[in-house]
Amino acid sequence: MTTESHADETAPAAGTRATFGSKLGILAATAGSAVGLGNVWRFPSETANGGGAVFVLIYLACVCFFGLPVVLAEFILGRAGKANPAGAYRNLAPGKPFHYFGVFAVAAAVLILGFYMVVAGWTFEYFRLAAAGTLAETTDFAGVFKSLSDDVWRQFLWLAVAVAATASIVGCGVKKGIEFASKLMMPLLFLLLLVMCARAVTLPGSGAGIAYLFSPDFSKLSSSVFISALGQSFFSLSLGMGCLITYASYFGPDVRLGKTAGQLAVTDTLVAVLAGITIFGTAFSVGGNAGDVADALAHGGPGLIFVTLPQLFQTLPLGQLWATAFFLLLILATVTSAISIYEIATAFLHEEFRLSRVAAVVALSALTLVFGFFSAASLGSVPADGESAGSLAGTLTLGGKTFFDWLDTLTAKWMMPLGGLFVSWFVGWHLDRKLVHAQLSNNDAFVIRFFRTYIFLLRFVAPAGIATIFLAQLLAS
Ligand code: PHE
Repeated sequence: MTTESHADETAPAAGTRATFGSKLGILAATAGSAVGLGNVWRFPSETANGGGAVFVLIYLACVCFFGLPVVLAEFILGRAGKANPAGAYRNLAPGKPFHYFGVFAVAAAVLILGFYMVVAGWTFEYFRLAAAGTLAETTDFAGVFKSLSDDVWRQFLWLAVAVAATASIVGCGVKKGIEFASKLMMPLLFLLLLVMCARAVTLPGSGAGIAYLFSPDFSKLSSSVFISALGQSFFSLSLGMGCLITYASYFGPDVRLGKTAGQLAVTDTLVAVLAGITIFGTAFSVGGNAGDVADALAHGGPGLIFVTLPQLFQTLPLGQLWATAFFLLLILATVTSAISIYEIATAFLHEEFRLSRVAAVVALSALTLVFGFFSAASLGSVPADGESAGSLAGTLTLGGKTFFDWLDTLTAKWMMPLGGLFVSWFVGWHLDRKLVHAQLSNNDAFVIRFFRTYIFLLRFVAPAGIATIFLAQLLAS
């Protein structure tokens, strides 16, 4: 074995580029990115929409056959390219226009921040409301949420808090900021989730919720279940917008990419399932009729975590404590994902435009505050007489969708899968097979068993799956 990795021959000199300090740090950071609103809010509501256990089964298959190959492709691209997404494509294919794929990924990251950070702000505000006992005193949970989403300035204030928290972590750098914060926050998140899950399964009647999650009813199988499971697996694994490319550019040469990808997928799935058990267990235990509960959960969106769940917690003994713990968990999950999205654009601005890291973070924060302001403002209720009364909400709605929803749809439904397609195409068809092999085997430091299967999945199976999401969405729109 040579000490010079094959990848290093094609990549630019590593220079003083930062690396993560430990394997645990890498797992905490990558899992921190993957575990987010996607696990705690989107997974349970998609599961309810998709008919319970059938969705879970298909989701697991999607993670294995589509998600994992693309995770690995992003890792390969990032570690071999040693740069932000645009730089990584450029370093591996100099003189070719592939770096536009990277620019596209960065654009997706900036747009996603415009609504993700607004939701992050809500979680901070709800944590405060829960801890202060305000939620415990109310009976009108929908009203509490509406008063927040109608109030642009209150949302903006909490958006600014979330932006400040995220920016200050990312501003401290890869090792001292991102890795340190992830290593602190992820164990706490796990602990909270385990305690909440244990509480949920010991509630009387929670068994029905767990059965709903694990005993498949195949009559519910349909193509739309398949498509949402595929979309969910991409969203949850943080694929298609250069996040894992950026993080992998900070991996040292001895990191085993396959093993790390496996650990990431297992952790992310485990958290989704534990969150599912917690939410379904609690809901079926105190929520009464199974059909109604599944319906309420299926409506998902902000309603699930900001209206339905607080209402459920209140019916439990020590409800205020559970609600506070839940929103703390949500803050941890959301902030560790937000820092990974931030890092994509920060690395891009830092490396492509030579801004200092702090200047890059400040510029990105300013942009996020502007996008965030408009997406928060677009959620307010429109007065009965339409756009009068200076309602921003009225002017920020297009084709029946708010600006907030547009950012969400554009990124999660279109740009992320498209970004995933670009990555699998580039790594599967364009990158030198030897380089891919060298990355996966750390330059033949160990034997990898499923190389041909992997290439097959990457070249044919993953692109076909992603293309299916697209066609289905085109047909549906
Ligand atoms: N995976 C994150 C979640 O589950 C969302 C995310 C998407 C984060 C893309 C980073 C990049 O919430």
